[in-house]
Amino acid sequence: MPTAVRSHAKINLGLYIGAPRLDGFHGLATVYQTLELYDVVTVTALRAAATALRLTSNDSRVPADSRNTAWKMVALALTALGVTAVVEIHIEKRLPVQGGLGAGSANAVAALIGLEAELGLATSLGAPSFERSSLDGWETTRLDIAAQVGSDVPLFLIGGTVLGVDRGQQVRPLPDLEPVWCVVATPSVGVSTPQAFRDWDALCEQEGLTPQAGQDKLNELSRAYASAFADSIPRGGPGTGSSGVLSLGEDRAGPRESALVRTGILSWVANDFERVVFSQHPSLAEIKRILLGQGTPEAALLAMLSGSGSALFGLYKTRGDAEAARQRLLAAGMASLLTRTLPRLAYWSEMLLEQAH
Ligand code: C5P
Repeated sequence: MPTAVRSHAKINLGLYIGAPRLDGFHGLATVYQTLELYDVVTVTALRAAATALRLTSNDSRVPADSRNTAWKMVALALTALGVTAVVEIHIEKRLPVQGGLGAGSANAVAALIGLEAELGLATSLGAPSFERSSLDGWETTRLDIAAQVGSDVPLFLIGGTVLGVDRGQQVRPLPDLEPVWCVVATPSVGVSTPQAFRDWDALCEQEGLTPQAGQDKLNELSRAYASAFADSIPRGGPGTGSSGVLSLGEDRAGPRESALVRTGILSWVANDFERVVFSQHPSLAEIKRILLGQGTPEAALLAMLSGSGSALFGLYKTRGDAEAARQRLLAAGMASLLTRTLPRLAYWSEMLLEQAH
């Protein structure tokens, strides 16, 4: 029976880039946050004498061969497991295909989860434990395979609020934020991630950023992220409950202070890609300005480019504030999506859809 899996989008709550490395990648420090928005990936797998993969999608822009991240992930997983099987993967695109939301990377992890369920592997649905040393063999292998498929694939094996360092593939769960309203704008302009990194290199050269200075900056920022999220746990108890989600408790009088405000990151968080992407696509800077709504009563808590774009997002205290941002975008001729951030427990508990018949 096919297994249908939700494949959620992510945003980056800031992204800092270092100088280019010898391996062709860049060191970075970012906080990934999963969103409620999702594609649906359906997997059917039957053990067979030889492996054969087939991939289909409702969206013709999705590659249906070994270029597809879901295909790569399933092929690598079968090899690592020493299993041969006939596998069919169907990707029902609901998310915009514009970059920045990690949709293709999430599809890869959803295909893996579907494959595991189909093969009857006894893997638990949930984030691996914090310490790599305590991971079991398969948990380590799937993190390694995910990193081979792409730098922002492993984050989807954790979900919720996730610190990403090294080239973005080294991930660690952070205390989750309670859900906040999010507006995602998906402008039609395309941004090439490798090109954005090359533009960053040119900027580094102009500004004389050395690899050592770049690494020092990243170390400092990843420490700042980790301590901001650790400090955001309210006094008088962790308040994380069984879900691990930061919460002030339902009985607190007055308006609930957003956990995002308590992290303190709103005062300093930034996405380095904006420096190179906005100068090439000024329309994206304008969309950020509209999302921010500065000076209005419905102003965003935070608005910025996600990854290298072209998707942008705004986070809002209330649904009304988010709706107001959507209206502002609409008045400028820009469609958008309304969603919420998705904590880790909900990410895992809602991952499997009712089995398809
Ligand atoms: O890992 P992924 O396949 O997503 O990376 C695509 C490209 O983006 C890489 O080939 C590299 O050019 C660039 N990249 C980078 N530094 C990173 C992640 C990606 O330079 N940390």
